Amino acid sequence: PKSITGNAPHIVITAGPTREALDPVRYLSNHSSGKMGYALAAEAAALGARVSLISGPVNLATPHGVERIDVETAMQMHQAALRLAPQAALFIGCAAVADYRADSAAEHKIKKTDDSDTLTLTLVKNPDIIAEVAALPANQRPVVVGFAAETQDLAGYAQDKLQRKGLDMIVANDVSQQGLGFGSDENAALLFWRVTSGTEQLAAPPQPKTQLAALIIRQALTLLPTQSSG
Ligand code: C5P
Repeated sequence: PKSITGNAPHIVITAGPTREALDPVRYLSNHSSGKMGYALAAEAAALGARVSLISGPVNLATPHGVERIDVETAMQMHQAALRLAPQAALFIGCAAVADYRADSAAEHKIKKTDDSDTLTLTLVKNPDIIAEVAALPANQRPVVVGFAAETQDLAGYAQDKLQRKGLDMIVANDVSQQGLGFGSDENAALLFWRVTSGTEQLAAPPQPKTQLAALIIRQALTLLPTQSSG
């Protein structure tokens, strides 16, 4: 049977978009559906792992056996991720984290004014959650898997992200392809992971996200240090 033998690893997964408040009624966000991250969580739990799913606002049911931590903002996701990651064996950053947030959310609804046709918002950078997890000290650092959604030079940008963020593996998908990626039930991906002599890769053809999730989890688990029992 396909299951994880021995000690069940703790896997932490981020999923979905984040929502950055501009004022009490408005926010900045993106089109992430959370489907890929939820499929990863479902697959990992089905294999017997202990799964913590840190989720932005999505319309999806919590997969069976998964502990779900709901967050809205990148700062909340950052806090939850850095609380859970040091005890985890594997961290998968699948969330579409907003790169920027309002420098300060307005306390009251921003009003339209008659004297100007433009409105200027000042945004500040959010922390790079996955890069911080990857930079944890060795005794607290899980194996780290990231995602890269690109519209051009998939392999180049993905390998650059793998190095720059200090990841162990990256799953790159071409979001310019119709019917794949954002919001869709299908996805294709290029996987790159580090080996001592450089990187290895695998091209996964278009397939249901549930099936791709199984392939990603399987590959990620091969990167975990083998645990000796006793
Ligand atoms: O740099 P980019 O946003 O394309 O990187 C995508 C990867 O980094 C994903 O794994 C995503 O979850 C993660 N990420 C993050 N925190 C951010 C931005 C991206 O964890 N602030």
